[in-house]
Amino acid sequence: MVTPKWTKRSLLGIQHLTGDEISYLLDISGEYRKAKTNGNFPSGCLEGKTIVNLFLEPSTRTRVAFELAAKGLQADVITIAEKSSSLTKGESLRDTARNIQALGADGIILRHSSPGAAQFLDNIVDVPVINAGDGAHEHPSQALLDLFTLREKLGSLKGKKVTILGDILFSRVARSNIWGLLKMGAKVTLAGPSTLVPKKMEELGLTVTYNLKKAVSNTDAIMLLRIQHERQTQTHFPSLTEYSKMFGLREGDSQPDSRTIILHPGPINRGVEIDSTLADSPQSVILDQVTNGVSVRMAILDACCSSTY
Ligand code: CP
Repeated sequence: MVTPKWTKRSLLGIQHLTGDEISYLLDISGEYRKAKTNGNFPSGCLEGKTIVNLFLEPSTRTRVAFELAAKGLQADVITIAEKSSSLTKGESLRDTARNIQALGADGIILRHSSPGAAQFLDNIVDVPVINAGDGAHEHPSQALLDLFTLREKLGSLKGKKVTILGDILFSRVARSNIWGLLKMGAKVTLAGPSTLVPKKMEELGLTVTYNLKKAVSNTDAIMLLRIQHERQTQTHFPSLTEYSKMFGLREGDSQPDSRTIILHPGPINRGVEIDSTLADSPQSVILDQVTNGVSVRMAILDACCSSTY
């Protein structure tokens, strides 16, 4: 049995978690993963509770995984998308959240385009808030499922080399993973165009390179990122063709070693950040990440929402 090491009400990011808190969530995720494999499902720790999935930005993986996770814990789940909510009639996020709480929600999962939106909501409501991605700030559940998948495939993360490749500047996935990987003792390299990978990030205790060959050789894992066009207000490289030539992962010259595993949070833009041959190769653990996302979100909901606040 795992020793309880979780005292937080909400999960707003990875930056302010300790290594022990991350390990705790990963261990609980492992318990849920095992239970699912052994057919000991579902667990009723959220029986009688209502979880609201407030998704104000598009999502497939995160939204569905949180829904499945909450249902797996026997919660009632309600999903609200921006277009079908009264936000389109001018209601503020603050009023929407207060109304959701007044309707009896026991937890709110929020995806929003503004950095800090989850923290904002957490200051307003008295129920747990789980950040499902806030602008370019953080995407903690994604980082936890990435760490879980890395640990599943590579064992302890201490000393493991992980390269994050692509649009670091606008990526909440990168930000959450950088915090998580460093706290778990991994050696992190950031790579991509210099316009999207600030050299200053080396101050965090990681390595920055603009050389693809260097970035993908002698590493245990490569985490690819999609270009976040929706967050960029100006172009940061000449064209997608140019980007793909310089930083796209494909067979040939800049191909990673066969022992290196390839991760991607999705959605993938095939032919841009990765070619199909590698995306669908045995090195790719992209669909394992998606599957693990359900167990990891069960752990998050269990930790944050199974107690009364
Ligand atoms: N990785 C991720 O956040 O995917 P979705 O946008 O589909 O949720």
